[in-house]
Amino acid sequence: MYQADLYIRNNDLQRRDIYKVLHNSMNLIKWTGTGEEMIVDLGCGSGDVTKDVILRSSPKIKGIVGVDISSDMLKFARDQNSHEQIEYKHLNLATKHKIDQNLRGKFDHAFSFHVFHWIKDQKRVFKNIYTMLKPGGDMLGLFVASTDVMLIYEKQAMMPKWSKYLQRVSDIFPYQHCEDPQVAIEDNLNQAGFSHMVKLEKREFIYSSREHFKTSMAVINPFVKNVPEDQHEEFMDDFADIAEGLHFFSDHDQHNQIVIVPYILAVIYLRKPDF
Ligand SMILES: C[S@@+](CC[C@H](N)C(=O)[O-])C[C@H]1O[C@@H](n2cnc3c(N)ncnc32)[C@H](O)[C@@H]1O
Repeated sequence: MYQADLYIRNNDLQRRDIYKVLHNSMNLIKWTGTGEEMIVDLGCGSGDVTKDVILRSSPKIKGIVGVDISSDMLKFARDQNSHEQIEYKHLNLATKHKIDQNLRGKFDHAFSFHVFHWIKDQKRVFKNIYTMLKPGGDMLGLFVASTDVMLIYEKQAMMPKWSKYLQRVSDIFPYQHCEDPQVAIEDNLNQAGFSHMVKLEKREFIYSSREHFKTSMAVINPFVKNVPEDQHEEFMDDFADIAEGLHFFSDHDQHNQIVIVPYILAVIYLRKPDF
Protein backbone atom coordinates (compact mmCIF):
# COMPACT_ATOMS: atom_id res chain seq x y z
CA MET A 1 0.00 0.00 0.00
CA TYR A 2 2.76 2.42 0.90
CA GLN A 3 6.42 2.99 0.23
CA ALA A 4 7.87 2.20 3.64
CA ASP A 5 10.81 4.62 3.46
CA LEU A 6 8.60 7.55 2.41
CA TYR A 7 6.00 6.64 5.03
CA ILE A 8 8.43 6.75 7.94
CA ARG A 9 9.73 10.15 6.79
CA ASN A 10 6.19 11.56 6.70
CA ASN A 11 4.41 9.99 9.64
CA ASP A 12 5.04 12.49 12.46
CA LEU A 13 1.35 13.30 12.72
CA GLN A 14 0.40 9.62 12.97
CA ARG A 15 3.15 9.14 15.56
CA ARG A 16 1.73 12.04 17.60
CA ASP A 17 -1.58 10.12 17.91
CA ILE A 18 0.23 6.95 18.95
CA TYR A 19 2.31 8.65 21.68
CA LYS A 20 -0.75 10.39 23.07
CA VAL A 21 -2.81 7.19 23.22
CA LEU A 22 0.02 5.20 24.81
CA HIS A 23 0.59 7.98 27.34
CA ASN A 24 -3.12 8.10 28.29
CA SER A 25 -4.13 4.45 27.99
CA MET A 26 -1.13 2.10 28.29
CA ASN A 27 -2.16 1.61 31.95
CA LEU A 28 -5.28 -0.25 30.75
CA ILE A 29 -3.17 -3.17 29.51
CA LYS A 30 -3.25 -6.04 32.00
CA TRP A 31 0.45 -6.99 32.20
CA THR A 32 1.10 -10.12 34.22
CA GLY A 33 4.72 -9.30 35.02
CA THR A 34 5.93 -12.82 34.19
CA GLY A 35 8.20 -11.60 31.38
CA GLU A 36 6.70 -14.37 29.24
CA GLU A 37 4.00 -12.34 27.50
CA MET A 38 3.63 -12.28 23.72
CA ILE A 39 2.43 -9.20 21.83
CA VAL A 40 1.07 -8.92 18.31
CA ASP A 41 1.34 -5.64 16.38
CA LEU A 42 -1.55 -5.72 13.90
CA GLY A 43 -0.63 -3.93 10.65
CA CYS A 44 2.96 -3.33 11.75
CA GLY A 45 3.96 -1.67 8.45
CA SER A 46 7.62 -0.69 8.34
CA GLY A 47 8.23 -2.01 11.87
CA ASP A 48 9.60 1.24 13.27
CA VAL A 49 6.64 1.66 15.63
CA THR A 50 6.87 -2.04 16.56
CA LYS A 51 10.52 -1.71 17.56
CA ASP A 52 10.91 1.92 18.66
CA VAL A 53 7.55 2.43 20.35
CA ILE A 54 5.79 -0.83 21.32
CA LEU A 55 8.86 -2.78 22.40
CA ARG A 56 10.24 0.21 24.32
CA SER A 57 6.93 1.06 26.03
CA SER A 58 6.28 -2.50 27.21
CA PRO A 59 7.61 -4.05 30.40
CA LYS A 60 9.78 -7.19 30.10
CA ILE A 61 8.07 -9.47 27.57
CA LYS A 62 8.93 -12.60 25.63
CA GLY A 63 8.46 -11.14 22.19
CA ILE A 64 6.43 -9.37 19.52
CA VAL A 65 5.04 -10.67 16.25
CA GLY A 66 4.38 -7.88 13.72
CA VAL A 67 1.85 -8.86 11.07
CA ASP A 68 1.01 -7.03 7.86
CA ILE A 69 -0.63 -7.68 4.49
CA SER A 70 2.08 -5.89 2.51
CA SER A 71 5.14 -7.90 1.48
CA ASP A 72 7.02 -4.66 0.74
CA MET A 73 6.38 -3.35 4.24
CA LEU A 74 7.43 -6.68 5.75
CA LYS A 75 10.63 -6.74 3.72
CA PHE A 76 11.49 -3.22 4.91
CA ALA A 77 10.63 -4.17 8.52
CA ARG A 78 12.86 -7.27 8.38
CA ASP A 79 15.72 -5.31 6.77
CA GLN A 80 15.56 -2.13 8.84
CA ASN A 81 13.79 -2.97 12.08
CA SER A 82 14.89 -6.44 12.98
CA HIS A 83 15.34 -7.30 16.65
CA GLU A 84 15.94 -10.58 18.47
CA GLN A 85 12.55 -10.29 20.19
CA ILE A 86 10.58 -9.39 17.04
CA GLU A 87 9.36 -11.58 14.19
CA TYR A 88 7.52 -10.18 11.16
CA LYS A 89 4.85 -12.29 9.46
CA HIS A 90 2.45 -11.99 6.58
CA LEU A 91 -1.25 -11.83 7.50
CA ASN A 92 -4.38 -10.33 6.02
CA LEU A 93 -6.28 -9.24 9.12
CA ALA A 94 -9.54 -9.61 7.19
CA THR A 95 -8.82 -13.11 5.98
CA LYS A 96 -11.82 -15.42 5.68
CA HIS A 97 -9.51 -18.43 5.96
CA LYS A 98 -8.68 -20.05 9.24
CA ILE A 99 -5.96 -18.11 11.07
CA ASP A 100 -2.65 -19.98 11.02
CA GLN A 101 -2.17 -22.36 13.96
CA ASN A 102 0.96 -20.41 15.03
CA LEU A 103 -1.13 -17.27 15.54
CA ARG A 104 -4.29 -18.75 17.13
CA GLY A 105 -4.75 -18.06 20.84
CA LYS A 106 -1.06 -17.14 21.13
CA PHE A 107 -1.09 -13.51 22.27
CA ASP A 108 -1.50 -11.84 25.65
CA HIS A 109 -1.73 -8.36 24.17
CA ALA A 110 -2.28 -6.69 20.80
CA PHE A 111 -1.64 -3.20 19.51
CA SER A 112 -2.81 -1.66 16.27
CA PHE A 113 -2.13 1.84 15.05
CA HIS A 114 -3.65 3.49 11.97
CA VAL A 115 -4.70 0.25 10.28
CA PHE A 116 -8.37 -0.62 10.70
CA HIS A 117 -9.66 2.33 8.61
CA TRP A 118 -8.13 0.70 5.52
CA ILE A 119 -10.18 -2.48 5.93
CA LYS A 120 -13.77 -2.84 4.77
CA ASP A 121 -14.74 -6.05 6.58
CA GLN A 122 -14.57 -4.84 10.18
CA LYS A 123 -16.56 -7.75 11.60
CA ARG A 124 -14.03 -10.20 10.20
CA VAL A 125 -11.04 -8.22 11.50
CA PHE A 126 -12.37 -8.16 15.06
CA LYS A 127 -13.28 -11.86 14.93
CA ASN A 128 -9.77 -12.68 13.74
CA ILE A 129 -8.19 -10.61 16.51
CA TYR A 130 -10.39 -12.44 19.03
CA THR A 131 -9.06 -15.73 17.64
CA MET A 132 -5.44 -14.60 18.00
CA LEU A 133 -5.70 -13.49 21.63
CA LYS A 134 -5.48 -15.81 24.63
CA PRO A 135 -8.46 -15.82 27.02
CA GLY A 136 -8.13 -12.62 29.08
CA GLY A 137 -5.94 -11.08 26.37
CA ASP A 138 -6.39 -7.41 25.54
CA MET A 139 -5.78 -4.86 22.80
CA LEU A 140 -5.13 -1.14 22.56
CA GLY A 141 -5.53 0.52 19.20
CA LEU A 142 -6.46 3.55 17.23
CA PHE A 143 -7.83 4.25 13.80
CA VAL A 144 -9.57 7.03 11.93
CA ALA A 145 -13.34 6.73 12.33
CA SER A 146 -14.02 9.47 9.81
CA THR A 147 -12.12 12.18 8.01
CA ASP A 148 -12.76 15.05 5.62
CA VAL A 149 -10.05 13.53 3.37
CA MET A 150 -12.73 11.12 2.28
CA LEU A 151 -14.55 14.10 0.68
CA ILE A 152 -11.49 14.60 -1.52
CA TYR A 153 -11.27 10.92 -2.50
CA GLU A 154 -14.99 10.89 -3.31
CA LYS A 155 -14.75 14.01 -5.49
CA GLN A 156 -11.65 12.72 -7.28
CA ALA A 157 -13.43 9.40 -7.89
CA MET A 158 -16.06 11.35 -9.88
CA MET A 159 -13.49 12.90 -12.23
CA PRO A 160 -13.58 10.96 -15.53
CA LYS A 161 -9.78 11.06 -15.85
CA TRP A 162 -9.23 9.43 -12.44
CA SER A 163 -12.41 7.43 -11.73
CA LYS A 164 -10.97 4.12 -12.92
CA TYR A 165 -8.20 4.32 -10.34
CA LEU A 166 -10.53 5.07 -7.42
CA GLN A 167 -13.17 2.42 -7.94
CA ARG A 168 -12.70 0.98 -4.45
CA VAL A 169 -13.12 4.28 -2.65
CA SER A 170 -16.05 2.92 -0.64
CA ASP A 171 -13.82 0.16 0.80
CA ILE A 172 -11.87 2.55 3.04
CA PHE A 173 -12.94 4.45 6.16
CA PRO A 174 -15.79 1.99 6.79
CA TYR A 175 -17.44 4.12 9.50
CA GLN A 176 -17.39 7.34 7.41
CA HIS A 177 -21.05 7.31 6.50
CA CYS A 178 -22.41 5.67 9.66
CA GLU A 179 -25.06 7.75 11.38
CA ASP A 180 -23.41 6.91 14.72
CA PRO A 181 -19.85 5.52 14.27
CA GLN A 182 -19.50 4.81 18.00
CA VAL A 183 -22.55 2.53 17.95
CA ALA A 184 -21.39 0.84 14.73
CA ILE A 185 -17.90 0.15 16.13
CA GLU A 186 -19.31 -1.13 19.44
CA ASP A 187 -21.76 -3.34 17.60
CA ASN A 188 -18.91 -5.03 15.68
CA LEU A 189 -16.91 -5.49 18.89
CA ASN A 190 -19.90 -7.00 20.70
CA GLN A 191 -20.47 -9.43 17.85
CA ALA A 192 -16.84 -10.54 18.02
CA GLY A 193 -17.26 -11.25 21.77
CA PHE A 194 -15.09 -8.48 23.27
CA SER A 195 -15.73 -6.31 26.27
CA HIS A 196 -14.56 -2.88 25.24
CA MET A 197 -14.06 0.83 25.69
CA VAL A 198 -14.40 3.02 22.61
CA LYS A 199 -13.61 6.74 22.63
CA LEU A 200 -14.02 9.06 19.66
CA GLU A 201 -11.82 12.15 19.71
CA LYS A 202 -11.85 15.16 17.37
CA ARG A 203 -8.40 15.87 15.96
CA GLU A 204 -6.75 17.85 13.17
CA PHE A 205 -3.78 17.09 10.98
CA ILE A 206 -2.06 20.40 10.21
CA TYR A 207 0.36 20.62 7.30
CA SER A 208 2.74 23.55 6.93
CA SER A 209 2.27 24.02 3.17
CA ARG A 210 0.57 22.65 0.09
CA GLU A 211 3.75 20.64 -0.66
CA HIS A 212 3.84 19.13 2.85
CA PHE A 213 0.15 18.19 2.50
CA LYS A 214 0.70 16.65 -0.95
CA THR A 215 3.74 14.58 0.08
CA SER A 216 2.18 13.35 3.31
CA MET A 217 -1.07 12.46 1.59
CA ALA A 218 0.68 10.76 -1.33
CA VAL A 219 2.40 8.25 0.96
CA ILE A 220 -0.84 7.11 2.58
CA ASN A 221 -3.09 7.45 -0.49
CA PRO A 222 -4.08 3.84 -1.29
CA PHE A 223 -5.03 4.74 -4.88
CA VAL A 224 -1.76 6.28 -6.07
CA LYS A 225 -0.33 2.82 -6.76
CA ASN A 226 -3.09 2.27 -9.38
CA VAL A 227 -2.08 5.40 -11.30
CA PRO A 228 0.70 5.18 -13.93
CA GLU A 229 3.87 6.63 -12.44
CA ASP A 230 4.20 9.44 -14.98
CA GLN A 231 0.78 10.73 -13.84
CA HIS A 232 1.43 10.66 -10.07
CA GLU A 233 2.31 14.36 -9.90
CA GLU A 234 -0.83 15.38 -11.79
CA PHE A 235 -2.97 13.02 -9.68
CA MET A 236 -1.72 14.55 -6.43
CA ASP A 237 -1.98 18.10 -7.83
CA ASP A 238 -5.63 17.49 -8.61
CA PHE A 239 -6.02 16.00 -5.13
CA ALA A 240 -4.59 19.20 -3.61
CA ASP A 241 -6.75 21.40 -5.88
CA ILE A 242 -9.88 19.58 -4.71
CA ALA A 243 -8.77 20.09 -1.09
CA GLU A 244 -8.30 23.79 -1.79
CA GLY A 245 -11.76 23.97 -3.38
CA LEU A 246 -13.16 22.36 -0.24
CA HIS A 247 -11.49 25.09 1.89
CA PHE A 248 -8.90 22.88 3.61
CA PHE A 249 -6.32 25.60 2.94
CA SER A 250 -5.99 28.65 5.17
CA ASP A 251 -6.65 32.04 3.58
CA HIS A 252 -3.07 33.33 4.00
CA ASP A 253 -1.15 34.22 0.89
CA GLN A 254 0.02 31.28 -1.21
CA HIS A 255 3.47 31.09 0.37
CA ASN A 256 2.21 30.94 3.95
CA GLN A 257 -0.73 28.64 3.53
CA ILE A 258 -1.36 25.92 6.05
CA VAL A 259 -3.63 22.98 5.38
CA ILE A 260 -6.00 21.73 8.06
CA VAL A 261 -7.58 18.28 7.85
CA PRO A 262 -10.16 17.46 10.53
CA TYR A 263 -10.72 13.84 11.51
CA ILE A 264 -12.24 11.75 14.25
CA LEU A 265 -9.90 9.30 15.91
CA ALA A 266 -11.29 6.12 17.43
CA VAL A 267 -9.30 4.85 20.42
CA ILE A 268 -10.28 1.33 21.43
CA TYR A 269 -9.40 -0.95 24.30
CA LEU A 270 -10.68 -4.54 23.95
CA ARG A 271 -10.61 -7.52 26.26
CA LYS A 272 -11.33 -11.14 25.47
CA PRO A 273 -13.19 -12.79 28.37
CA ASP A 274 -11.28 -15.18 30.65
CA PHE A 275 -12.68 -18.68 30.35
C1 LIG B 1 -0.53 3.61 8.04
S1 LIG B 1 0.30 2.06 8.04
C2 LIG B 1 0.57 1.93 9.79
C3 LIG B 1 1.76 1.08 10.10
C4 LIG B 1 2.14 1.01 11.60
N1 LIG B 1 1.07 0.45 12.40
C5 LIG B 1 2.52 2.38 12.11
O1 LIG B 1 1.83 2.89 13.00
O2 LIG B 1 3.53 2.93 11.64
C6 LIG B 1 -1.02 0.91 7.77
C7 LIG B 1 -0.57 -0.52 7.60
O3 LIG B 1 -1.72 -1.37 7.58
C8 LIG B 1 -1.45 -2.44 6.70
N2 LIG B 1 -2.73 -3.07 6.33
C9 LIG B 1 -3.74 -2.55 5.60
N3 LIG B 1 -4.71 -3.48 5.42
C10 LIG B 1 -4.30 -4.61 6.07
C11 LIG B 1 -4.87 -5.91 6.24
N4 LIG B 1 -6.06 -6.24 5.70
N5 LIG B 1 -4.17 -6.83 6.95
C12 LIG B 1 -2.95 -6.52 7.49
N6 LIG B 1 -2.37 -5.30 7.35
C13 LIG B 1 -3.04 -4.35 6.65
C14 LIG B 1 -0.75 -1.76 5.54
O4 LIG B 1 -0.06 -2.66 4.72
C15 LIG B 1 0.15 -0.78 6.27
O5 LIG B 1 1.41 -1.33 6.52
